[in-house]
Amino acid sequence: MSSVESTKILLEECELPKAWYNIQADLPNPLDPPLNPATREPAGPGDLAGIFPMDLILQEVSTERYIPIPEEVLNVYTLWRPTPLVRARRLERALDTPARIYYKNEGVSPPGSHKPNTAVAQAYYNKKAGIKRLTTETGAGQWGSALSFACNIFGLECVVYMVKVSYEQKPYRRSMMETWGAKVIPSPSDKTSAGRSILSKDPESPGSLGIAISEAVEEAASRKDTNYSLGSVLNHVLLHQTIIGLEAQKQLEKVSDYPDIVIGCHGGGSNLGGIALPFVRDKINGKDVRIVAVEPTACPSLTRGRLDYDFGDTAGLTPLLKMYTLGHDFVPSPIHAGGLRYHGAAPIISRLVADGLIEAKAYDQKPVFDAAVQFAKAEGIIPAPETAHAIRAAIDEAIRCKEEGVQRTILFNLSGHGHFDMSAYDGYFAGKM
Ligand SMILES: Cc1ncc(COP(=O)(O)O)c(C=O)c1O
Repeated sequence: MSSVESTKILLEECELPKAWYNIQADLPNPLDPPLNPATREPAGPGDLAGIFPMDLILQEVSTERYIPIPEEVLNVYTLWRPTPLVRARRLERALDTPARIYYKNEGVSPPGSHKPNTAVAQAYYNKKAGIKRLTTETGAGQWGSALSFACNIFGLECVVYMVKVSYEQKPYRRSMMETWGAKVIPSPSDKTSAGRSILSKDPESPGSLGIAISEAVEEAASRKDTNYSLGSVLNHVLLHQTIIGLEAQKQLEKVSDYPDIVIGCHGGGSNLGGIALPFVRDKINGKDVRIVAVEPTACPSLTRGRLDYDFGDTAGLTPLLKMYTLGHDFVPSPIHAGGLRYHGAAPIISRLVADGLIEAKAYDQKPVFDAAVQFAKAEGIIPAPETAHAIRAAIDEAIRCKEEGVQRTILFNLSGHGHFDMSAYDGYFAGKM
């Protein structure tokens, strides 16, 4: 008998889920509809058709429980999916905890995060609708990289408005997007009226996701051959990300385990929704599982925001969404977790937090990086600063298991690696946090 410990729980490519899970079929309280910003009446498909293809608009409002994944999308997913579920044995030993800790490693995708799960689907549906160009925003650079990668595969042009502070902190994210053929513009820019209006008030604006979204939406709305693509927040984005949790459920079944706690960091809600929504379904059906969203104290939409209708962007171009929000003109301080600097939250996550099915907590940057380094030393992987929020919470739960002498199973989403975030780690090591 081999004494080698098993660490990775793997699925064969033929075990890849063939349908996404749509929580809208099972929500105890349905979502409030998006509103047309001018009339404040529920927005219909026509209000969205200027910037999204009809397949995605229909997914946005669908209440079908399972939505088949097109074969063309599955054939791209197999470049990196199924992703490994890893038992973090070395971290468990370092913490001397009775907890079993598992992480789903979404950092193995070519762009390095969970984001291509939806980027590939969105590029596919836009191509199918005859669209030639996609615009988008990116904070940390992960989403822009994912859409650049996906557009390249389906032969679409890609224009990325990158939040200026990230553009400056992460020049190699830009190079990566350009390698896949995208055009990258620092935001706020003088290319759009939304960008020019911000610059006239604050020429030194560090930018924000809300501003970059305004710029990308404005460009898409002004051209027939161009659509807009959003990397988080919307229902169809969370839908595509559920492949993470569906795989994780199959993987945990293989080792006869089930989580007591599922953890994800929270920016707009897509990686948390991705790993957690299949478990929320179980919770609605009576399972005892806690779901935890982790956000930065610098941008605490779920823990300190109000549940209200608000715009998804800064300039007020998008439909109004019912969500936890800090206000669409909120510009968070330039923390390193650029992908968590968003004023709002996904309507689905907001509904589930309001209904008590998801808990939320917030951490400062310093303890988050303490956890990132502890994880890197134990498990080898250097996580993205966004992901490190989930790791902080997972470590704290594991420490609590030790203090209480209780064995619990903890599952968290390793949403991305931090190879392009080393300047943030430098700042941490230099004591500048
Ligand atoms: C690695 C990583 N994790 C998490 C996030 C947060 O986004 P979301 O809440 O949509 O998963 C981002 C966003 O850029 C990211 O790059």
